[in-house]
Order: sequence, then structure tokens, then C-alpha cells
Amino acid sequence: MKFTYYGHACFSVVAGGKTLLFDPFITPNPLASGIDITQIEADFILVSHGHADHVADVVEVAGRTGATIISPFEVGAWFEKKGLKNVQAMNHGGAAETQFGRVKLTSAIHSSSMPDGSYGGNPCGFVIETEDGNFYYSGDTALTLDMKLIAEETQLRFAVLPIGDFYTMGIDDALRAAEFAGATKIVGVHYDTFPPIKLDREAALRAASSAGKALLLPQIGETIDV
Ligand code: NI
Ligand code: MN
Repeated sequence: MKFTYYGHACFSVVAGGKTLLFDPFITPNPLASGIDITQIEADFILVSHGHADHVADVVEVAGRTGATIISPFEVGAWFEKKGLKNVQAMNHGGAAETQFGRVKLTSAIHSSSMPDGSYGGNPCGFVIETEDGNFYYSGDTALTLDMKLIAEETQLRFAVLPIGDFYTMGIDDALRAAEFAGATKIVGVHYDTFPPIKLDREAALRAASSAGKALLLPQIGETIDV
């Protein structure tokens, strides 16, 4: 599967014949100034929670591409009020068959409010199952034993996990999360964007390798095969 990193916790995965864009936050991110959002393709935009660093460019990209938003219920309702028509507003534990395969919302331990301060429901992660393989994006979260349920249900090709610490898991908990969820390959996200989440890359890569995990840290704008 082709994975493209757009900085912070924003990335796209081409799977099941569709392009899935996650948590678009590009134009406010100085580290992603090389990305032209008018060139970003999306058939679906998956939004894990309402925080600005996950939703900043949703309206822009959805408006241009006509992509369907998949998100927790309150986040979807907020975007419908903004005039977006294609919204699949779900809730935790719920799964749905889609054009790319199956999507299931998992629990995440974090908070969620919309950029205008309104209620954002509870934050989620996503398990995506497609004919090309399955993956897990945890969203912003603490380590939680719930991640073990994923390994019981789904064989993962990789997991996308926050590793920046402070607001989310740091690298050590992300490595335990990967173990819980049954993933040996991790794409690290949610680091470097703000001073408290600056990553010691070498230390993170060393920790992953001693845990027997492959930690991938693509450059912003880079596309990798996962
Ligand atoms: Ni957040
Ligand atoms: Mn965040």
C-alpha cells in the first residue's frame, strides 16, 4: 500500500482502490509548507477527533474533492453544519462496509473539542480492512489495553501511531501499543510539529529496533510502500 506523509498526523493511504486521507492539518503547519493542498487527492477523509491539528484542512480538501468524511458522530455533525454533504458519522465499536473495504472505529484515550470550542464527542482510532491489507491508525491516544482487541480481530500489515509524547503516547508506549495490536511495522506520526513533541529520532529508532519493531519515519511529502 502507498503511504504518503503530509506532516503531523496527516497522511494518505491508497487501499482498496481508493485514496484515504487522515486528519488533514497542512496549511497551518510550517513544517509542511512544501505541500500544496490543492494537489492532494482524497476519496475519503477520516477524522479521528475535533482538535484543530487534525481538522484544519478538512473543509478545503473535502470541498474540492467531494471526498466522504468518516468520523465520530459529533465531528461529522459539525462538518455537516459547515455545509459538507458527504459525511459518514459513526461511533465507537461501529464498523461499516465502504467502497474501499471495512472501517471500524476504535476507542482512543484523549479529548475532543472542535476548533470553535463546541463539543467534539469522543476521539477515535480506525481499523481499516481492505483487499490490499489491513492497518490501524490509533489517532491521538494514550496506551490502552483495548488495543489488544484489535489483534484478536484483525491481522495488521502496519500501525500508524503517535510517538511525540506530551499530548499522546511517546515512543515507548507506542511500541507497547504495536505489540498489543499485533503490528510489527509502525509509521510514527504526531511529532516535531510543536516544541513539546520534538522527537529524538535516533533514540526512537534505537528503541524500536530493541523492541523488534520496524519504525518508519517518512519525510513530509514522501511516499513509501508499506
Ligand atoms: Ni488531539
Ligand atoms: Mn493532536
